Amino acid sequence: MNETILIIDDEDNLRKTLAKILAARGYDILEASDGIEAVELLRASAPDLVFTDWKMPVMGGEEILRYMRKDPRLDSIPVIVITAFGSSHSTIEAVRLGAYDFVTKPFDLDEISLTAERALAHSSLNHEVAHLRAQIGRNGVAATGRLIGSSRAMVDVFKMIGKVAETDSTVLICGESGTGKELVAEAIHAYSRRKDKPFVVVNCAALPEGLLESELFGHERGAFTGAVGRKTGRFEVAEGGTIFLDEIAELSPGLQSKLLRVLQEHTYERVGGTETVYGNFRALAATNRDLEACVREKVFREDLFYRLNVVRIPVPSLRERRSDIVPLAEHFLGIYSERNGLPTVGFSDDAILMLQMYSYPGNVRELENMVERAVLMARGRVVMPGHFPMSIGAGRERDPSHDEVEFLLLPFHKAIAELEKLLIKNALKDSNGNKSEAADRLQINRRLLYKKLTDYHLEE
Ligand SMILES: Nc1ncnc2c1ncn2[C@@H]1O[C@H](COP(=O)(O)OP(=O)(O)OP(=O)(O)O)[C@@H](O)[C@H]1O
Ligand SMILES: [Mg+2]
Repeated sequence: MNETILIIDDEDNLRKTLAKILAARGYDILEASDGIEAVELLRASAPDLVFTDWKMPVMGGEEILRYMRKDPRLDSIPVIVITAFGSSHSTIEAVRLGAYDFVTKPFDLDEISLTAERALAHSSLNHEVAHLRAQIGRNGVAATGRLIGSSRAMVDVFKMIGKVAETDSTVLICGESGTGKELVAEAIHAYSRRKDKPFVVVNCAALPEGLLESELFGHERGAFTGAVGRKTGRFEVAEGGTIFLDEIAELSPGLQSKLLRVLQEHTYERVGGTETVYGNFRALAATNRDLEACVREKVFREDLFYRLNVVRIPVPSLRERRSDIVPLAEHFLGIYSERNGLPTVGFSDDAILMLQMYSYPGNVRELENMVERAVLMARGRVVMPGHFPMSIGAGRERDPSHDEVEFLLLPFHKAIAELEKLLIKNALKDSNGNKSEAADRLQINRRLLYKKLTDYHLEE
């Protein structure tokens, strides 16, 4: 099905030109020559994207935006405002009311289609995230903590969760310490057919080989000195549900081969027992190590690696998804304020800046601990830079790419300017110099990016 674009403009020629350009790109077009007509069309059907003129005699762009923001069915539709010339007031108003982007008359054909394409992609990404969040939330992960993230990298993770959850395939979750691997495992379980059955976590690094074996498979009475009773193993506890094998790289060679058999045949024997037990479980595994390297170094069985690596979900480090830092910080601020009976106030601007600059070697867990501590220190007041550990602003732990700029020591406006420059440079680097893509990454419109490039003399 084609995506539908509603074009609202009182100038017939202009509207028809725009309609022609967009229809040629395969979109279905609706046209309205004023706001009243537009509202009628919006009542009848929700388009995927709206282009609207700002100044119109009857009902202008501002009223249309206001109208759409009040209707939950229309609220998430991206709106691109058509302006004749750079009027800062209308721009500010339009931004405030949630306009997605701007195009100026006269039209640049390529720019128009690109803007439309990007707005549509953006809104489908938003839908996907909302949809997955709703699914994940509904199935109970909310109880253990919601997966926060709207960066592209995290959306990819959500998509993978959605794809594998309903299958029974083994999933290997990889990522640095504290990136949320366990949360991803929980989400896979919560989103699967097994969601009402147990989710059992085994940390393979926590126990010595002998104990771990009976922990996993259980033991019969008298299996070894001290085995006074019969013990139910974790695989048995997980019957019908999911078993999550954390820190899988730490498994001893002996247990690696036993695990391989369990994963292949779903059968095992309890320690000291002769009966073969059949288990109905789904296995997930996680590691923060480079398992391929472990295989090369012959400390991890190659056949077990391939058995586990059927599907792999790489969870990105927090440095690779900086746009998630602030939403995560706010999420944790809410949690820890409530838990401590304190009002949720917020972060000061320079505290936010500080959070955004830091490198997070301990990833989300480190951010969470930092916010928890800051909440306690701030005692219900706004969280300030001083409530965070000295080291995060001191430069030592900061991202190496930021070393040259001692932002936090500069006067406010200079610091902001330096930050803007850095964000722009990084965005351009990440998009191989493609300015449209850079603007998209920064979630600003291209015009603003061009202006900043000129202002800061960043043009090559
Ligand atoms: N996307 C996220 N949204 C909300 N909370 C998160 C997210 N990612 C991680 N967390 C929180 O961060 C903490 C660490 O996450 P988790 O234990 O899943 O990490 P991990 O990758 O298993 O770490 P490790 O390798 O050290 O075991 C947890 O408290 C978790 O709730
Ligand atoms: Mg973990």
